[in-house]
Amino acid sequence: MSGRIPQYFIDQLISRIDIVEVIGTRLPLRKAGKEYKACCPFHNEKTPSFNVVPEKQFYHCFGCGAHGTALGFLMDHDHLSFIEAVDELAARAGLDVPREASNTPAPHKPSQDHYTLLEQAGDFFRQQLRNQPAAIDYLKKRGLTGETAARFGIGYAPDAWDGLIKQLGQSDSALQGLTQTGLLIERDSKNGFYDRFRHRVMFPIRDSRGRTIGFGGRIIDQGEPKYLNSPETELFHKGRELYGLYEARQATRQLKQLMVVEGYMDVVSLHQAGITYAVATLGTATTPEHLKRLLRVCNTVVFCFDGDRAGRAAAWKAMEVALPVIGEGHLIRFLILPTEHDPDSLVRKEGREAFELRISQATPLSEYLIDELSTRFDLSHAEGRDQFTAEAKRLLTMINNDSYRILLYQPLAAALGISVDRLRQLIPIVAEQSSSRTLSPSSTPLESTGRGSLVRQIIQNLLHYPAAAKALNRLSELSAVDKPGITLLVQVASELQAQPDLPAAALLERWRQRPDFHYIDKLFLKAPPASSLEIAIDEVTKASERLLADRFPKEKFDELMRHFHLGTLTNEDKQELRELIKRQAGH
Ligand code: UTP
Ligand code: MN
Repeated sequence: MSGRIPQYFIDQLISRIDIVEVIGTRLPLRKAGKEYKACCPFHNEKTPSFNVVPEKQFYHCFGCGAHGTALGFLMDHDHLSFIEAVDELAARAGLDVPREASNTPAPHKPSQDHYTLLEQAGDFFRQQLRNQPAAIDYLKKRGLTGETAARFGIGYAPDAWDGLIKQLGQSDSALQGLTQTGLLIERDSKNGFYDRFRHRVMFPIRDSRGRTIGFGGRIIDQGEPKYLNSPETELFHKGRELYGLYEARQATRQLKQLMVVEGYMDVVSLHQAGITYAVATLGTATTPEHLKRLLRVCNTVVFCFDGDRAGRAAAWKAMEVALPVIGEGHLIRFLILPTEHDPDSLVRKEGREAFELRISQATPLSEYLIDELSTRFDLSHAEGRDQFTAEAKRLLTMINNDSYRILLYQPLAAALGISVDRLRQLIPIVAEQSSSRTLSPSSTPLESTGRGSLVRQIIQNLLHYPAAAKALNRLSELSAVDKPGITLLVQVASELQAQPDLPAAALLERWRQRPDFHYIDKLFLKAPPASSLEIAIDEVTKASERLLADRFPKEKFDELMRHFHLGTLTNEDKQELRELIKRQAGH
Protein backbone atom coordinates (compact mmCIF):
# COMPACT_ATOMS: atom_id res chain seq x y z
CA MET A 1 0.00 0.00 0.00
CA SER A 2 1.09 3.53 -0.59
CA GLY A 3 2.10 5.73 2.29
CA ARG A 4 -0.52 8.03 3.71
CA ILE A 5 -0.61 11.64 2.73
CA PRO A 6 0.59 13.53 5.79
CA GLN A 7 -1.88 15.73 7.62
CA TYR A 8 0.18 18.87 7.37
CA PHE A 9 0.05 18.63 3.61
CA ILE A 10 -3.75 18.50 3.47
CA ASP A 11 -3.86 21.51 5.82
CA GLN A 12 -1.43 23.32 3.59
CA LEU A 13 -3.29 22.38 0.44
CA ILE A 14 -6.62 23.64 1.77
CA SER A 15 -5.00 26.90 2.83
CA ARG A 16 -3.28 27.30 -0.50
CA ILE A 17 -6.07 26.70 -2.99
CA ASP A 18 -9.19 28.77 -3.51
CA ILE A 19 -12.46 26.88 -3.63
CA VAL A 20 -13.99 29.59 -5.83
CA GLU A 21 -11.36 28.95 -8.45
CA VAL A 22 -11.66 25.17 -8.23
CA ILE A 23 -15.44 25.19 -8.57
CA GLY A 24 -15.37 28.14 -10.96
CA THR A 25 -13.61 26.09 -13.63
CA ARG A 26 -16.42 23.59 -13.48
CA LEU A 27 -19.54 25.70 -12.91
CA PRO A 28 -20.49 29.20 -14.01
CA LEU A 29 -20.31 30.96 -10.63
CA ARG A 30 -21.97 34.34 -10.15
CA LYS A 31 -20.94 36.68 -7.38
CA ALA A 32 -23.66 37.49 -4.87
CA GLY A 33 -22.43 39.63 -2.00
CA LYS A 34 -19.61 37.83 -0.24
CA GLU A 35 -20.59 34.52 -1.78
CA TYR A 36 -20.91 32.91 -5.18
CA LYS A 37 -23.92 31.17 -6.65
CA ALA A 38 -24.66 28.63 -9.36
CA CYS A 39 -27.25 26.05 -10.29
CA CYS A 40 -26.42 22.96 -8.28
CA PRO A 41 -24.59 20.25 -10.24
CA PHE A 42 -25.84 17.58 -7.84
CA HIS A 43 -29.54 17.96 -8.52
CA ASN A 44 -31.70 19.44 -11.25
CA GLU A 45 -32.75 22.99 -10.65
CA LYS A 46 -33.56 26.16 -12.52
CA THR A 47 -32.86 28.78 -9.85
CA PRO A 48 -29.44 28.66 -8.23
CA SER A 49 -29.32 27.41 -4.66
CA PHE A 50 -25.70 26.27 -4.76
CA ASN A 51 -23.50 28.63 -2.73
CA VAL A 52 -19.74 28.89 -2.44
CA VAL A 53 -18.49 30.66 0.67
CA PRO A 54 -14.88 31.83 0.21
CA GLU A 55 -14.60 32.90 3.81
CA LYS A 56 -15.10 29.34 4.97
CA GLN A 57 -13.70 27.65 1.84
CA PHE A 58 -16.90 25.69 1.77
CA TYR A 59 -19.82 25.08 -0.57
CA HIS A 60 -23.40 24.29 0.27
CA CYS A 61 -26.56 23.65 -1.73
CA PHE A 62 -29.75 24.73 0.02
CA GLY A 63 -31.76 22.63 -2.40
CA CYS A 64 -30.28 19.17 -1.96
CA GLY A 65 -27.98 19.63 1.01
CA ALA A 66 -24.77 18.78 -0.88
CA HIS A 67 -21.85 20.48 0.84
CA GLY A 68 -18.15 20.24 1.57
CA THR A 69 -14.68 21.56 0.90
CA ALA A 70 -12.86 21.90 -2.42
CA LEU A 71 -11.56 18.36 -1.92
CA GLY A 72 -15.03 17.05 -1.23
CA PHE A 73 -16.33 18.86 -4.30
CA LEU A 74 -13.80 17.17 -6.57
CA MET A 75 -14.61 13.79 -5.05
CA ASP A 76 -18.35 14.22 -5.60
CA HIS A 77 -18.38 16.22 -8.81
CA ASP A 78 -15.54 14.58 -10.71
CA HIS A 79 -16.07 11.24 -8.99
CA LEU A 80 -12.50 11.15 -7.77
CA SER A 81 -11.14 9.18 -4.87
CA PHE A 82 -9.65 11.12 -1.98
CA ILE A 83 -6.13 10.53 -3.25
CA GLU A 84 -7.07 11.53 -6.79
CA ALA A 85 -8.70 14.72 -5.53
CA VAL A 86 -5.60 15.57 -3.51
CA ASP A 87 -3.41 14.95 -6.57
CA GLU A 88 -5.61 17.18 -8.68
CA LEU A 89 -5.60 20.08 -6.20
CA ALA A 90 -1.87 19.70 -5.60
CA ALA A 91 -1.15 19.86 -9.33
CA ARG A 92 -3.24 23.02 -9.51
CA ALA A 93 -1.36 24.57 -6.60
CA GLY A 94 2.00 23.45 -7.99
CA LEU A 95 2.77 21.26 -4.98
CA ASP A 96 4.25 17.77 -4.88
CA VAL A 97 2.25 15.34 -2.80
CA PRO A 98 4.50 13.90 -0.10
CA ARG A 99 3.87 10.42 1.25
CA GLU A 100 4.57 9.24 4.74
CA ALA A 101 6.94 6.30 4.81
CA SER A 102 4.86 3.16 4.62
CA ASN A 103 5.48 0.40 7.14
CA THR A 104 5.21 -2.29 4.51
CA PRO A 105 8.73 -2.58 3.15
CA ALA A 106 7.63 -4.06 -0.21
CA PRO A 107 8.78 -1.90 -3.09
CA HIS A 108 5.86 0.16 -4.18
CA LYS A 109 5.26 1.64 -7.58
CA PRO A 110 3.35 4.88 -7.52
CA SER A 111 -0.16 4.67 -8.94
CA GLN A 112 0.75 6.73 -11.98
CA ASP A 113 2.82 3.82 -13.22
CA HIS A 114 -0.11 1.52 -12.63
CA TYR A 115 -2.35 3.62 -14.83
CA THR A 116 0.29 3.53 -17.54
CA LEU A 117 0.71 -0.23 -17.28
CA LEU A 118 -3.03 -0.80 -17.47
CA GLU A 119 -3.27 1.46 -20.50
CA GLN A 120 -0.39 -0.37 -22.18
CA ALA A 121 -2.03 -3.70 -21.39
CA GLY A 122 -5.25 -2.43 -22.97
CA ASP A 123 -3.33 -1.38 -26.09
CA PHE A 124 -1.72 -4.81 -26.25
CA PHE A 125 -5.09 -6.56 -25.98
CA ARG A 126 -6.57 -4.36 -28.70
CA GLN A 127 -3.67 -5.06 -30.99
CA GLN A 128 -4.02 -8.81 -30.31
CA LEU A 129 -7.69 -8.64 -31.25
CA ARG A 130 -6.78 -7.41 -34.72
CA ASN A 131 -4.62 -10.51 -35.24
CA GLN A 132 -7.05 -13.04 -33.88
CA PRO A 133 -9.82 -13.98 -36.34
CA ALA A 134 -11.49 -16.32 -33.83
CA ALA A 135 -12.01 -13.46 -31.39
CA ILE A 136 -13.20 -11.09 -34.10
CA ASP A 137 -15.63 -13.74 -35.30
CA TYR A 138 -16.92 -14.19 -31.79
CA LEU A 139 -17.68 -10.49 -31.41
CA LYS A 140 -19.27 -10.37 -34.86
CA LYS A 141 -21.39 -13.37 -34.02
CA ARG A 142 -22.58 -11.49 -30.97
CA GLY A 143 -23.55 -8.60 -33.21
CA LEU A 144 -20.96 -6.06 -32.16
CA THR A 145 -19.73 -3.57 -34.72
CA GLY A 146 -16.12 -2.51 -34.99
CA GLU A 147 -17.17 0.96 -33.93
CA THR A 148 -18.68 -0.32 -30.69
CA ALA A 149 -15.64 -2.46 -29.97
CA ALA A 150 -13.48 0.63 -30.44
CA ARG A 151 -15.71 2.83 -28.27
CA PHE A 152 -15.38 0.37 -25.38
CA GLY A 153 -11.74 -0.39 -26.10
CA ILE A 154 -12.46 -4.11 -26.37
CA GLY A 155 -9.46 -6.37 -26.93
CA TYR A 156 -8.30 -9.95 -26.74
CA ALA A 157 -5.90 -11.68 -24.35
CA PRO A 158 -3.97 -14.35 -26.28
CA ASP A 159 -4.08 -18.03 -25.47
CA ALA A 160 -0.71 -18.14 -23.70
CA TRP A 161 0.72 -18.07 -20.19
CA ASP A 162 3.12 -15.30 -21.02
CA GLY A 163 1.56 -13.12 -23.72
CA LEU A 164 1.46 -10.01 -21.59
CA ILE A 165 4.69 -10.89 -19.81
CA LYS A 166 6.56 -10.98 -23.11
CA GLN A 167 5.08 -7.65 -24.10
CA LEU A 168 5.37 -5.63 -20.88
CA GLY A 169 7.19 -7.65 -18.25
CA GLN A 170 10.72 -6.56 -19.16
CA SER A 171 11.85 -5.46 -15.73
CA ASP A 172 11.31 -6.59 -12.16
CA SER A 173 9.43 -3.42 -11.41
CA ALA A 174 7.15 -3.94 -14.42
CA LEU A 175 6.44 -7.50 -13.26
CA GLN A 176 5.63 -6.15 -9.80
CA GLY A 177 3.38 -3.47 -11.22
CA LEU A 178 1.57 -5.90 -13.49
CA THR A 179 0.99 -8.17 -10.52
CA GLN A 180 -0.22 -5.33 -8.30
CA THR A 181 -2.69 -4.28 -10.99
CA GLY A 182 -4.02 -7.83 -11.17
CA LEU A 183 -2.81 -8.62 -14.70
CA LEU A 184 -0.26 -11.22 -13.64
CA ILE A 185 -0.33 -13.88 -10.99
CA GLU A 186 2.81 -14.79 -9.08
CA ARG A 187 3.31 -18.57 -8.89
CA ASP A 188 5.81 -18.36 -6.09
CA SER A 189 9.02 -16.48 -5.66
CA LYS A 190 11.06 -19.04 -7.64
CA ASN A 191 8.80 -19.88 -10.52
CA GLY A 192 7.83 -16.44 -11.57
CA PHE A 193 4.63 -15.07 -13.01
CA TYR A 194 1.88 -15.93 -15.50
CA ASP A 195 -0.87 -14.04 -17.32
CA ARG A 196 -4.16 -13.91 -15.43
CA PHE A 197 -6.22 -13.41 -18.59
CA ARG A 198 -5.80 -15.97 -21.37
CA HIS A 199 -7.87 -16.55 -24.49
CA ARG A 200 -10.51 -14.09 -23.43
CA VAL A 201 -12.29 -11.08 -24.91
CA MET A 202 -11.12 -8.18 -22.77
CA PHE A 203 -13.35 -5.35 -21.58
CA PRO A 204 -11.39 -2.47 -20.04
CA ILE A 205 -13.04 -1.00 -16.94
CA ARG A 206 -12.53 2.75 -16.79
CA ASP A 207 -12.78 5.20 -13.94
CA SER A 208 -14.67 8.48 -14.12
CA ARG A 209 -11.82 10.12 -15.97
CA GLY A 210 -11.59 7.36 -18.54
CA ARG A 211 -8.43 5.78 -17.16
CA THR A 212 -8.33 2.00 -17.31
CA ILE A 213 -8.31 0.57 -13.79
CA GLY A 214 -9.13 -3.08 -14.43
CA PHE A 215 -10.50 -5.58 -16.91
CA GLY A 216 -13.26 -8.08 -17.34
CA GLY A 217 -12.45 -11.01 -19.60
CA ARG A 218 -15.02 -13.27 -21.25
CA ILE A 219 -14.12 -16.78 -22.24
CA ILE A 220 -14.55 -17.30 -25.99
CA ASP A 221 -15.75 -20.84 -26.04
CA GLN A 222 -17.19 -22.81 -23.19
CA GLY A 223 -15.34 -22.77 -19.93
CA GLU A 224 -15.18 -21.59 -16.37
CA PRO A 225 -15.44 -18.97 -15.20
CA LYS A 226 -17.42 -17.35 -17.99
CA TYR A 227 -16.23 -13.93 -16.89
CA LEU A 228 -13.00 -13.29 -15.09
CA ASN A 229 -12.58 -9.89 -13.45
CA SER A 230 -9.52 -8.08 -12.20
CA PRO A 231 -9.11 -8.61 -8.47
CA GLU A 232 -9.53 -5.71 -6.06
CA THR A 233 -6.46 -3.52 -6.32
CA GLU A 234 -5.38 -0.13 -5.16
CA LEU A 235 -7.07 1.38 -8.20
CA PHE A 236 -9.98 -0.98 -8.69
CA HIS A 237 -12.84 -1.43 -6.23
CA LYS A 238 -15.79 -3.47 -7.41
CA GLY A 239 -18.10 -2.02 -4.81
CA ARG A 240 -17.58 1.41 -6.26
CA GLU A 241 -17.00 1.13 -9.98
CA LEU A 242 -19.66 0.83 -12.65
CA TYR A 243 -18.92 -0.52 -16.08
CA GLY A 244 -20.04 1.91 -18.77
CA LEU A 245 -20.46 4.98 -16.57
CA TYR A 246 -17.57 6.77 -18.22
CA GLU A 247 -18.91 5.92 -21.68
CA ALA A 248 -22.43 6.99 -20.66
CA ARG A 249 -21.17 10.37 -19.48
CA GLN A 250 -19.15 10.77 -22.65
CA ALA A 251 -22.24 10.12 -24.75
CA THR A 252 -24.58 12.56 -22.98
CA ARG A 253 -23.65 15.80 -21.26
CA GLN A 254 -26.67 16.09 -19.03
CA LEU A 255 -27.83 12.57 -18.31
CA LYS A 256 -31.52 12.38 -17.37
CA GLN A 257 -31.44 8.79 -16.21
CA LEU A 258 -29.11 5.86 -15.81
CA MET A 259 -30.03 2.21 -16.10
CA VAL A 260 -28.24 -0.50 -14.15
CA VAL A 261 -28.00 -3.88 -15.88
CA GLU A 262 -26.19 -7.05 -14.90
CA GLY A 263 -23.54 -7.72 -17.51
CA TYR A 264 -20.75 -6.31 -19.63
CA MET A 265 -22.37 -7.50 -22.85
CA ASP A 266 -25.67 -5.96 -21.80
CA VAL A 267 -24.03 -2.55 -21.48
CA VAL A 268 -22.15 -2.80 -24.75
CA SER A 269 -25.15 -4.07 -26.67
CA LEU A 270 -27.49 -1.42 -25.25
CA HIS A 271 -25.04 1.37 -26.06
CA GLN A 272 -24.71 0.05 -29.57
CA ALA A 273 -28.49 0.14 -29.91
CA GLY A 274 -28.48 3.79 -28.83
CA ILE A 275 -29.37 3.26 -25.17
CA THR A 276 -26.18 4.90 -24.01
CA TYR A 277 -27.21 5.39 -20.38
CA ALA A 278 -26.75 1.73 -19.39
CA VAL A 279 -24.15 0.78 -16.78
CA ALA A 280 -23.38 -2.48 -14.95
CA THR A 281 -21.95 -3.52 -11.64
CA LEU A 282 -18.98 -5.85 -11.95
CA GLY A 283 -20.27 -9.25 -11.02
CA THR A 284 -21.43 -7.97 -7.61
CA ALA A 285 -24.72 -6.77 -6.24
CA THR A 286 -25.36 -3.04 -6.28
CA THR A 287 -23.87 -1.36 -3.23
CA PRO A 288 -25.07 1.86 -1.58
CA GLU A 289 -21.91 3.45 -2.90
CA HIS A 290 -22.79 2.50 -6.47
CA LEU A 291 -26.23 3.97 -6.11
CA LYS A 292 -25.06 7.17 -4.45
CA ARG A 293 -22.63 7.65 -7.27
CA LEU A 294 -25.34 7.23 -9.87
CA LEU A 295 -27.71 9.56 -8.05
CA ARG A 296 -25.06 12.24 -8.03
CA VAL A 297 -24.99 12.09 -11.81
CA CYS A 298 -28.76 12.20 -12.27
CA ASN A 299 -31.98 11.84 -10.30
CA THR A 300 -33.45 8.82 -11.99
CA VAL A 301 -32.00 5.33 -11.78
CA VAL A 302 -33.68 2.34 -13.37
CA PHE A 303 -32.65 -1.11 -12.19
CA CYS A 304 -33.07 -3.65 -14.94
CA PHE A 305 -33.07 -7.35 -14.06
CA ASP A 306 -33.49 -10.60 -15.91
CA GLY A 307 -36.85 -12.21 -15.37
CA ASP A 308 -35.46 -15.37 -13.77
CA ARG A 309 -35.46 -16.14 -10.06
CA ALA A 310 -31.97 -14.78 -9.54
CA GLY A 311 -33.03 -11.54 -11.22
CA ARG A 312 -36.06 -11.19 -8.97
CA ALA A 313 -34.00 -11.83 -5.86
CA ALA A 314 -31.47 -9.26 -7.05
CA ALA A 315 -34.27 -6.72 -7.55
CA TRP A 316 -35.45 -7.14 -3.97
CA LYS A 317 -31.90 -6.71 -2.75
CA ALA A 318 -31.44 -3.60 -4.82
CA MET A 319 -34.58 -2.17 -3.28
CA GLU A 320 -33.21 -2.78 0.21
CA VAL A 321 -30.01 -1.04 -0.79
CA ALA A 322 -31.95 1.88 -2.24
CA LEU A 323 -34.31 2.58 0.68
CA PRO A 324 -31.74 4.28 2.93
CA VAL A 325 -30.18 6.13 0.01
CA ILE A 326 -33.29 7.69 -1.54
CA GLY A 327 -33.26 11.44 -1.05
CA GLU A 328 -35.40 14.30 -2.16
CA GLY A 329 -36.18 14.29 -5.86
CA HIS A 330 -34.75 10.84 -6.49
CA LEU A 331 -36.68 8.40 -8.61
CA ILE A 332 -35.76 4.72 -8.54
CA ARG A 333 -37.53 2.33 -10.85
CA PHE A 334 -37.49 -1.37 -11.57
CA LEU A 335 -37.67 -3.10 -14.90
CA ILE A 336 -37.99 -6.87 -14.86
CA LEU A 337 -37.49 -8.43 -18.26
CA PRO A 338 -39.39 -11.38 -19.74
CA THR A 339 -38.09 -14.65 -18.34
CA GLU A 340 -36.09 -15.88 -21.31
CA HIS A 341 -34.20 -12.62 -21.94
CA ASP A 342 -31.36 -10.48 -20.75
CA PRO A 343 -31.01 -6.86 -21.95
CA ASP A 344 -28.51 -7.88 -24.63
CA SER A 345 -30.76 -10.49 -26.21
CA LEU A 346 -33.88 -8.40 -25.83
CA VAL A 347 -32.56 -5.21 -27.35
CA ARG A 348 -31.19 -7.17 -30.29
CA LYS A 349 -34.53 -8.86 -30.76
CA GLU A 350 -36.89 -5.92 -30.43
CA GLY A 351 -34.70 -2.85 -30.96
CA ARG A 352 -34.21 0.44 -29.21
CA GLU A 353 -37.72 1.86 -29.38
CA ALA A 354 -39.50 -1.12 -27.90
CA PHE A 355 -36.86 -1.42 -25.21
CA GLU A 356 -37.10 2.25 -24.31
CA LEU A 357 -40.85 1.91 -24.09
CA ARG A 358 -40.29 -0.73 -21.43
CA ILE A 359 -37.88 1.59 -19.62
CA SER A 360 -40.39 4.41 -19.65
CA GLN A 361 -42.95 2.07 -18.11
CA ALA A 362 -40.64 0.69 -15.42
CA THR A 363 -42.23 0.32 -11.98
CA PRO A 364 -41.43 3.02 -9.39
CA LEU A 365 -39.80 1.63 -6.26
CA SER A 366 -42.82 2.34 -4.06
CA GLU A 367 -45.10 0.37 -6.34
CA TYR A 368 -42.58 -2.44 -6.69
CA LEU A 369 -42.29 -2.65 -2.91
CA ILE A 370 -46.02 -2.94 -2.38
CA ASP A 371 -46.52 -5.36 -5.26
CA GLU A 372 -43.79 -7.61 -3.94
CA LEU A 373 -45.15 -7.55 -0.39
CA SER A 374 -48.59 -8.38 -1.71
CA THR A 375 -47.29 -11.40 -3.61
CA ARG A 376 -45.16 -12.60 -0.74
CA PHE A 377 -47.87 -12.58 1.88
CA ASP A 378 -51.37 -13.90 1.72
CA LEU A 379 -53.60 -11.03 2.76
CA SER A 380 -56.70 -13.14 3.02
CA HIS A 381 -55.96 -14.16 6.61
CA ALA A 382 -54.76 -12.43 9.75
CA GLU A 383 -51.34 -14.10 9.91
CA GLY A 384 -50.47 -13.05 6.39
CA ARG A 385 -51.58 -9.49 7.08
CA ASP A 386 -49.54 -9.47 10.22
CA GLN A 387 -46.43 -10.63 8.36
CA PHE A 388 -47.07 -8.05 5.66
CA THR A 389 -47.27 -5.32 8.29
CA ALA A 390 -44.13 -6.49 10.07
CA GLU A 391 -42.14 -6.56 6.84
CA ALA A 392 -43.54 -3.18 5.78
CA LYS A 393 -42.45 -1.78 9.12
CA ARG A 394 -38.94 -3.13 8.68
CA LEU A 395 -38.68 -1.57 5.24
CA LEU A 396 -40.18 1.75 6.30
CA THR A 397 -37.66 2.16 9.08
CA MET A 398 -34.87 1.77 6.54
CA ILE A 399 -35.99 4.92 4.74
CA ASN A 400 -34.23 8.08 5.77
CA ASN A 401 -36.17 10.54 3.74
CA ASP A 402 -39.05 11.44 6.09
CA SER A 403 -41.45 12.68 3.45
CA TYR A 404 -40.89 9.62 1.29
CA ARG A 405 -41.58 7.34 4.24
CA ILE A 406 -44.80 9.15 5.07
CA LEU A 407 -45.94 9.02 1.44
CA LEU A 408 -45.74 5.23 1.51
CA TYR A 409 -48.40 4.91 4.22
CA GLN A 410 -51.22 5.61 1.82
CA PRO A 411 -50.54 2.84 -0.73
CA LEU A 412 -49.56 0.39 2.02
CA ALA A 413 -52.83 1.00 3.83
CA ALA A 414 -54.71 0.60 0.56
CA ALA A 415 -53.01 -2.76 -0.09
CA LEU A 416 -54.06 -3.94 3.38
CA GLY A 417 -57.54 -2.54 2.91
CA ILE A 418 -57.34 -0.41 6.07
CA SER A 419 -57.28 3.32 6.73
CA VAL A 420 -54.06 5.29 6.89
CA ASP A 421 -54.86 6.16 10.51
CA ARG A 422 -55.18 2.50 11.38
CA LEU A 423 -51.83 1.76 9.69
CA ARG A 424 -50.26 4.60 11.65
CA GLN A 425 -51.37 2.88 14.82
CA LEU A 426 -49.82 -0.37 13.63
CA ILE A 427 -46.64 1.30 12.41
CA PRO A 428 -46.17 4.52 14.35
CA ILE A 429 -44.49 7.34 12.47
CA VAL A 430 -41.44 8.38 14.37
CA ALA A 431 -40.55 11.86 13.28
CA GLU A 432 -36.93 12.47 12.42
CA GLN A 433 -36.20 9.00 13.65
CA SER A 434 -33.67 8.21 11.06
CA SER A 435 -31.70 11.05 9.63
CA SER A 436 -28.80 10.64 12.00
CA ARG A 437 -29.05 6.89 12.10
CA THR A 438 -28.20 6.42 8.46
CA LEU A 439 -25.10 8.45 8.70
CA SER A 440 -23.63 5.79 10.86
CA PRO A 441 -25.26 2.48 11.56
CA SER A 442 -23.31 2.02 14.76
CA SER A 443 -24.39 4.94 16.84
CA THR A 444 -21.73 7.46 17.68
CA PRO A 445 -21.70 9.03 21.11
CA LEU A 446 -22.57 12.50 19.97
CA GLU A 447 -25.83 11.26 18.54
CA SER A 448 -27.42 11.01 21.92
CA THR A 449 -26.57 14.58 22.81
CA GLY A 450 -29.66 16.68 22.51
CA ARG A 451 -30.06 19.53 20.12
CA GLY A 452 -28.74 22.11 22.52
CA SER A 453 -26.39 19.99 24.61
CA LEU A 454 -23.45 21.84 26.07
CA VAL A 455 -20.96 19.60 24.34
CA ARG A 456 -22.55 20.17 20.99
CA GLN A 457 -22.83 23.90 21.58
CA ILE A 458 -19.11 24.11 22.28
CA ILE A 459 -18.11 22.06 19.24
CA GLN A 460 -20.36 24.09 17.00
CA ASN A 461 -18.89 27.34 18.28
CA LEU A 462 -15.37 26.02 17.75
CA LEU A 463 -16.13 25.08 14.17
CA HIS A 464 -17.27 28.59 13.40
CA TYR A 465 -14.88 30.44 15.68
CA PRO A 466 -11.71 28.34 15.90
CA ALA A 467 -10.06 31.09 17.95
CA ALA A 468 -12.53 30.39 20.75
CA ALA A 469 -10.61 27.16 21.47
CA LYS A 470 -8.13 29.13 23.55
CA ALA A 471 -10.90 29.69 26.12
CA LEU A 472 -10.87 25.99 26.95
CA ASN A 473 -7.97 25.96 29.39
CA ARG A 474 -8.99 22.90 31.39
CA LEU A 475 -9.02 20.35 28.59
CA SER A 476 -7.62 17.46 30.55
CA GLU A 477 -10.27 17.92 33.21
CA LEU A 478 -12.91 18.21 30.50
CA SER A 479 -11.78 14.95 28.97
CA ALA A 480 -12.76 13.23 32.21
CA VAL A 481 -16.32 14.54 32.02
CA ASP A 482 -18.65 11.67 31.35
CA LYS A 483 -20.79 13.12 28.55
CA PRO A 484 -21.44 11.86 25.02
CA GLY A 485 -19.23 13.58 22.48
CA ILE A 486 -16.70 14.82 25.02
CA THR A 487 -13.79 13.02 23.36
CA LEU A 488 -14.63 14.66 20.07
CA LEU A 489 -14.85 18.05 21.75
CA VAL A 490 -11.47 17.66 23.41
CA GLN A 491 -9.90 16.49 20.16
CA VAL A 492 -11.24 19.41 18.15
CA ALA A 493 -10.22 21.87 20.84
CA SER A 494 -6.71 20.55 21.22
CA GLU A 495 -6.08 20.49 17.48
CA LEU A 496 -7.28 24.07 17.22
CA GLN A 497 -5.20 25.15 20.20
CA ALA A 498 -2.13 23.62 18.58
CA GLN A 499 -2.86 25.47 15.36
CA PRO A 500 -5.10 28.48 15.95
CA ASP A 501 -4.98 29.66 12.33
CA LEU A 502 -6.16 26.32 10.88
CA PRO A 503 -8.92 27.07 8.36
CA ALA A 504 -12.20 25.44 9.28
CA ALA A 505 -12.25 23.59 5.95
CA ALA A 506 -8.87 22.05 6.79
CA LEU A 507 -10.21 20.96 10.16
CA LEU A 508 -13.09 19.24 8.39
CA GLU A 509 -10.67 17.48 6.03
CA ARG A 510 -8.73 16.16 9.02
CA TRP A 511 -11.85 14.34 10.06
CA ARG A 512 -12.63 12.82 6.69
CA GLN A 513 -10.89 9.55 7.51
CA ARG A 514 -12.09 9.44 11.12
CA PRO A 515 -15.25 7.77 12.39
CA ASP A 516 -16.85 11.02 13.62
CA PHE A 517 -16.62 12.71 10.22
CA HIS A 518 -20.39 12.80 9.69
CA TYR A 519 -20.97 14.64 12.94
CA ILE A 520 -18.36 17.27 12.34
CA ASP A 521 -19.63 17.56 8.79
CA LYS A 522 -23.20 18.03 9.94
CA LEU A 523 -22.39 20.50 12.69
CA PHE A 524 -20.30 22.45 10.25
CA LEU A 525 -23.39 23.20 8.19
CA LYS A 526 -25.42 24.53 11.06
CA ALA A 527 -25.51 28.24 11.70
CA PRO A 528 -23.07 29.38 14.38
CA PRO A 529 -24.72 29.50 17.82
CA ALA A 530 -22.90 32.73 18.69
CA SER A 531 -22.95 35.82 16.52
CA SER A 532 -19.38 36.97 17.15
CA LEU A 533 -16.07 35.64 18.42
CA GLU A 534 -16.48 37.46 21.74
CA ILE A 535 -19.88 35.89 22.33
CA ALA A 536 -18.53 32.50 21.23
CA ILE A 537 -15.67 32.74 23.74
CA ASP A 538 -18.14 33.65 26.44
CA GLU A 539 -20.47 30.78 25.58
CA VAL A 540 -17.65 28.26 25.33
CA THR A 541 -16.26 29.36 28.68
CA LYS A 542 -19.62 29.17 30.45
CA ALA A 543 -20.58 25.86 28.88
CA SER A 544 -17.29 24.24 29.83
CA GLU A 545 -17.57 25.54 33.39
CA ARG A 546 -21.02 24.03 33.64
CA LEU A 547 -19.77 20.72 32.29
CA LEU A 548 -17.01 20.68 34.85
CA ALA A 549 -19.35 21.65 37.67
CA ASP A 550 -21.79 18.90 36.73
CA ARG A 551 -19.10 16.26 36.72
CA PHE A 552 -19.95 13.08 38.48
CA PRO A 553 -18.03 13.15 41.79
CA LYS A 554 -16.27 9.87 41.27
CA GLU A 555 -13.95 10.17 44.25
CA LYS A 556 -16.79 10.94 46.59
CA PHE A 557 -18.73 8.04 45.13
CA ASP A 558 -15.83 5.62 45.60
CA GLU A 559 -15.42 6.77 49.17
CA LEU A 560 -19.10 6.25 49.93
CA MET A 561 -18.96 2.82 48.34
CA ARG A 562 -16.04 1.93 50.54
CA HIS A 563 -18.06 2.89 53.61
CA PHE A 564 -20.98 0.96 52.25
CA HIS A 565 -18.90 -2.22 52.06
CA LEU A 566 -17.53 -1.58 55.51
CA GLY A 567 -21.02 -0.96 56.82
CA THR A 568 -20.02 2.47 58.09
CA LEU A 569 -22.44 4.69 56.16
CA THR A 570 -24.26 7.37 58.12
CA ASN A 571 -27.87 8.13 57.25
CA GLU A 572 -26.75 11.24 55.44
CA ASP A 573 -24.17 9.22 53.49
CA LYS A 574 -26.84 6.75 52.50
CA GLN A 575 -29.01 9.52 51.14
CA GLU A 576 -26.10 10.97 49.17
CA LEU A 577 -25.09 7.60 47.79
CA ARG A 578 -28.64 6.94 46.65
CA GLU A 579 -28.64 10.23 44.77
CA LEU A 580 -25.33 9.45 43.13
CA ILE A 581 -26.44 6.00 42.06
CA LYS A 582 -29.54 7.54 40.54
CA ARG A 583 -27.42 10.05 38.67
CA GLN A 584 -25.10 7.38 37.40
CA ALA A 585 -27.99 5.30 36.14
CA GLY A 586 -29.25 8.34 34.28
CA HIS A 587 -26.08 8.46 32.22
P1 UTP B 1 -24.30 -13.52 -16.92
O1 UTP B 1 -23.94 -14.92 -16.62
O2 UTP B 1 -25.72 -13.10 -16.85
O3 UTP B 1 -23.74 -13.33 -18.36
O4 UTP B 1 -23.41 -12.59 -16.03
P2 UTP B 1 -24.08 -12.28 -19.49
O5 UTP B 1 -23.78 -10.92 -19.05
O6 UTP B 1 -25.39 -12.55 -20.09
O7 UTP B 1 -22.90 -12.67 -20.46
P3 UTP B 1 -22.96 -13.29 -21.90
O8 UTP B 1 -24.09 -12.64 -22.61
O9 UTP B 1 -23.11 -14.75 -21.74
O10 UTP B 1 -21.62 -12.92 -22.44
C1 UTP B 1 -23.69 -11.26 -15.77
C2 UTP B 1 -22.47 -10.61 -15.20
O11 UTP B 1 -22.03 -11.27 -14.03
C3 UTP B 1 -20.64 -11.28 -13.94
C4 UTP B 1 -20.14 -10.47 -15.13
O12 UTP B 1 -19.98 -9.13 -14.72
C5 UTP B 1 -21.27 -10.63 -16.11
O13 UTP B 1 -21.28 -9.61 -17.08
N1 UTP B 1 -20.09 -12.65 -14.01
C6 UTP B 1 -20.75 -13.66 -14.61
C7 UTP B 1 -18.86 -12.87 -13.47
O14 UTP B 1 -18.22 -11.96 -12.92
N2 UTP B 1 -18.30 -14.13 -13.56
C8 UTP B 1 -18.96 -15.15 -14.17
O15 UTP B 1 -18.41 -16.25 -14.25
C9 UTP B 1 -20.20 -14.90 -14.70
MN1 MN C 1 -26.05 -12.33 -22.00
